[in-house]
Amino acid sequence: MNILAIESSCDETAVAIVRDGREVLADCIASQAEMHEIYGGVVPEIASRKHIEAISALAEEALRRASLSRKDLDAVAVTYAPGLIGALLVGVNFAKAAAYALGLPLIPVHHVRGHIAANYIAYPELQPPFVCLCVSGGTSLIVDVRSYTEMEILGATRDDAAGECFDKIARVLGLGYPGGGPMDRMAQGGDDTRFVLPRVHMQDAPMDLSFSGLKTATLNLIHNLQQKGEEVPRSDLAASFSAAVSDMLIPRVMEAAKRLQYGKVAVVGGVAANSRIRRDLEKACQKSGNELYLPPLSLCGDNGAMIGSQAYYEYLAGKRGNSTLNAYANRDISLG
Ligand SMILES: Nc1ncnc2c1ncn2[C@@H]1O[C@H](COP(=O)(O)OP(=O)(O)OP(=O)(O)O)[C@@H](O)[C@H]1O
Ligand SMILES: [Mg+2]
Repeated sequence: MNILAIESSCDETAVAIVRDGREVLADCIASQAEMHEIYGGVVPEIASRKHIEAISALAEEALRRASLSRKDLDAVAVTYAPGLIGALLVGVNFAKAAAYALGLPLIPVHHVRGHIAANYIAYPELQPPFVCLCVSGGTSLIVDVRSYTEMEILGATRDDAAGECFDKIARVLGLGYPGGGPMDRMAQGGDDTRFVLPRVHMQDAPMDLSFSGLKTATLNLIHNLQQKGEEVPRSDLAASFSAAVSDMLIPRVMEAAKRLQYGKVAVVGGVAANSRIRRDLEKACQKSGNELYLPPLSLCGDNGAMIGSQAYYEYLAGKRGNSTLNAYANRDISLG
């Protein structure tokens, strides 16, 4: 089954063609990051316009790269939630039109379920159930992935997402947007014990996360140094910050793994590219005897292939969209 998959939830326009959920025949991405860097973050209206400019050509390019014609396609899938509403609507309307014109079924896909499916591409043998840490620009979740389409949230951030925090601290350090990658590089060789930053724990909800305290403490520290006219030791600060984020994420995921006893832990989303988090998880999984599934860096950020993969399993479970399909800025992952 060849699925044409469309992703436009944030600042990447992506179109992929995926066969039977696991084989990527084409994966085309047009990133707008350079455009938004000028403003230090994503400008939603610009994102929508850029999606409109790129999407048709990208779909043609995907067919060309896969050496397929339109009649070889079996379904059209699209990210319909969560994300920037105007940006999502571009993909949803394109997908609806394509499905209608080609007489194909339409499959709506939850963006974070797509992130989870990135590991189905990277690891052909991986099957649910497993515990999944989803950490990206807009999400920080610990999810019980019971089956391809049944999921329960075990823990969630109460405020900022991990990626959002990396981006905000990076901006103040003059590292550009998106800042997670540059922060990671800046942390290499830095002293992660130089600054003592808060690790938040909530007694009533031990698997929930909160990053706003860490963000504020780090910003205050930077401002205090700047006010005193002292140079900010960026490398040590980036290393101390990355260690604090990792220390909040890893014990919670491992606690979930211990409770559920699946023996499998996965990490997905843009922040899954972080070298400190990857390293700490490898150690924690090795120690506890869990198999760890980490997507390659190319599948951590937004892409169309992950949407095409999840779409296959949504299709098998009977999920369909029609011409009334709408986009949603927020939607619980357990609802699909
Ligand atoms: N090496 C890294 N270390 C930390 N963060 C990183 C790294 N590489 C990328 N990121 C962060 O990942 C985020 C982008 O990930 P992704 O594209 O999955 O998020 P999004 O699509 O914007 O959000 P969501 O998936 O929640 O809708 C950015 O916040 C970016 O700074
Ligand atoms: Mg994403």
